[in-house]
Amino acid sequence: MTKITDVVDLEKQGEIAILMINNPPVNALSVGVRKGMADGVKAAMEDDSVKALVIACAGRTFIAGADITEFGKPPQGPGLEVPFGLIENGPKPVIAAIHGTALGGGLETALVCHFRVAVPSARFGLPEVLLGLLPGAGGTQRLPLVVGVEKAIQMIATGNQISAQEALKEGLIDEILEGDLVTGAVAFAKKVLAEKRPLRKIRDRREKVEAVKGKPEVFAEARKAFAKSRRGFEAPQACIDAVEAAVNFPLEEGLKKERELFAKLMMGSQSAAQRYAFFAEREVAKIPDVPADTPQIPINKVGIVGAGTMGGGIAMNCANVGIPVIIMEVNQQLLDKGLGICRKNYENTAAKGRITKEDVEKRMALIKGTLSLEDFSDVDMVIEAVYENMDLKKEVFGKLDKICKPGAVLASNTSALNINEIASATQRPDFVIGLHFFSPANVMRLLEVVRGEKTSKSVIATSMAFGKRIQKIAVLVGVCRGFVGNRMLAERSREANKLLLESGSPQQIDKVIFDFGFPMGPFTMSDMAGLDIGWNKATSKGATLRDRLCEAGRLGQKTNAGFYDYQPGNRTPIPSPLVEKMIKDFAAENRIPQRTISDEEILERSLYPMINEGTKILEEGIAIRPSDIDVIWIYGYGWPIYRGGPMFYADLVEVKKIYDKLVEFQKKEGEVWKPAALLEKLAKEGKGFKDFRR
Ligand SMILES: NC(=O)c1ccc[n+]([C@@H]2O[C@H](COP(=O)([O-])OP(=O)(O)OC[C@H]3O[C@@H](n4cnc5c(N)ncnc54)[C@H](O)[C@@H]3O)[C@@H](O)[C@H]2O)c1
Repeated sequence: MTKITDVVDLEKQGEIAILMINNPPVNALSVGVRKGMADGVKAAMEDDSVKALVIACAGRTFIAGADITEFGKPPQGPGLEVPFGLIENGPKPVIAAIHGTALGGGLETALVCHFRVAVPSARFGLPEVLLGLLPGAGGTQRLPLVVGVEKAIQMIATGNQISAQEALKEGLIDEILEGDLVTGAVAFAKKVLAEKRPLRKIRDRREKVEAVKGKPEVFAEARKAFAKSRRGFEAPQACIDAVEAAVNFPLEEGLKKERELFAKLMMGSQSAAQRYAFFAEREVAKIPDVPADTPQIPINKVGIVGAGTMGGGIAMNCANVGIPVIIMEVNQQLLDKGLGICRKNYENTAAKGRITKEDVEKRMALIKGTLSLEDFSDVDMVIEAVYENMDLKKEVFGKLDKICKPGAVLASNTSALNINEIASATQRPDFVIGLHFFSPANVMRLLEVVRGEKTSKSVIATSMAFGKRIQKIAVLVGVCRGFVGNRMLAERSREANKLLLESGSPQQIDKVIFDFGFPMGPFTMSDMAGLDIGWNKATSKGATLRDRLCEAGRLGQKTNAGFYDYQPGNRTPIPSPLVEKMIKDFAAENRIPQRTISDEEILERSLYPMINEGTKILEEGIAIRPSDIDVIWIYGYGWPIYRGGPMFYADLVEVKKIYDKLVEFQKKEGEVWKPAALLEKLAKEGKGFKDFRR
């Protein structure tokens, strides 16, 4: 065996050479791998005793992509084109032997080989689009030639992976091998030699794309579909451009086009935002004063109080990963209703083919109902999801404290209430924590883990690990009204309501927010959630526009009328002349002059107060890092990932510009616009949130 570099070896089994890559954890294409591949392939090609070469990887996977820590840094060592050229244009057959996942540059490596074999569990994909990029080492040019245009666009522009079975069917691999992969790949190489099979260069295989050559309508159609399913994202569109080039141009020209498109995406703000978000999502697990080795409480059974909207969803999260749950309600009817919704949700998922009918039964069997809190004596963690009412929550926690075993974690799903006050109802405030799920709880990825004054480090570590186990992105935050997400949202809502009275147009405000990339604007969102959340019919005196809408029976989508009108059974908002008049009257009564407001002003007044509040949240230590705030907004509120989250966006706009605007609005509108001290400091120093350190 010859060591080529620290991470690449070359060995020989008779006439067959094996280039073995060993770059844990995922055999990323770092400089040592690229150099090792270039030198190793060259050595094998020059060695007359070698007749064929197998490329394989040690550890848990084939090459799973580029080394993204090298992104944005000056290139080192050979680029991929060097080993790729040696492989594809070399005189000897090269076989990629694939296990685990061949992703990104890994799949591109396999595509320059003449043959590909894989184990049955192998998976294949080009996920670059998920980082706002496209496969930049020939993936967009070679994949269409081997699987056809439709499949290639599907894979490249979504980043979705395919299985070995599908890869075989599509012609992406030549054989699925049972047993030891390298042994099988060597045997396959011998077979290729014995049968004198010609070298099958993908670059020369154009039969699958001939039919769409010179047919721009095929690509126009794809662009339209992706403009809808990936609204606002630039990279999927560029992926389609690249595939079109693969069809219409010879390889060298297509590769040039791919490089140009890649460079443009790499320089753009969307990819920067998506790469930032990728790291931000991983950073949230790091808590400065709670080291990774902090002892955790084993969670083998969870109790949930309240089987309403949130309780049911939370129970499903646990059952999905095999954690037994007991869920308590105040009466049988509500309990049955809650459990029935869980079952219905599972059955819908099964109907879409995402889980089996057996999975539905298995998961439902893990969720037991009860009418008595006494049944919670053996649970390791309770998640309370009763109405948002402090007295009720304190009563429940007081009872839980007496019933639950010592060492059990007592968590509340409150959206805004003070965790310290809830904890004060128990004799174990160190075991009390907030676990703030987002609605629908079985779908939304975010979990705000709210640390109380007395919450122990072990309970924090346990809760963060629990969040990960139930497949959430858990972000640690501190206690304040609304925590991070809802506290910032309140700023946007306040300003949206003012803008509404000044502009008279919910549709203009909603459109600006929708076009920015959110799933919907604030008024469509209110209509969906219901305008009567927190509204009290008995005490309502028409003091706000919302009061008046509710008093008029306009409670949102559920009554087919809210800020907008709705056709029964249809959720498309229709502008309402009646609401327009109500806004006009309300503004007149309150002496609020109406005027035409620019989209730019709407955007600034919607987002800058949020950024200012986010800065205060950082100052107060409620969030650990600016990027934690961004993760919360991306995964809890639909902030477009290609804009990186509010704090990343602030840097993009420039903190100084935001500061100046806040000062301008402060002069006109008063103290709610006062810039946070930290924002002022950063602006005056010409810095951004990327420079923020505690
Ligand atoms: N709905 C959301 O979007 C959302 C999002 C995040 C957090 N939350 C929070 O989650 C909590 C629950 O909200 P929800 O939307 O699920 O409310 P919900 O009204 O749908 O459900 C609450 C359930 O708790 C039950 N309940 C009341 N008192 C009880 C008691 N003493 N013992 C057992 N069950 C009791 C009720 O019967 C009801 O079924 C609230 O604190 C809320 O602020 C809600």
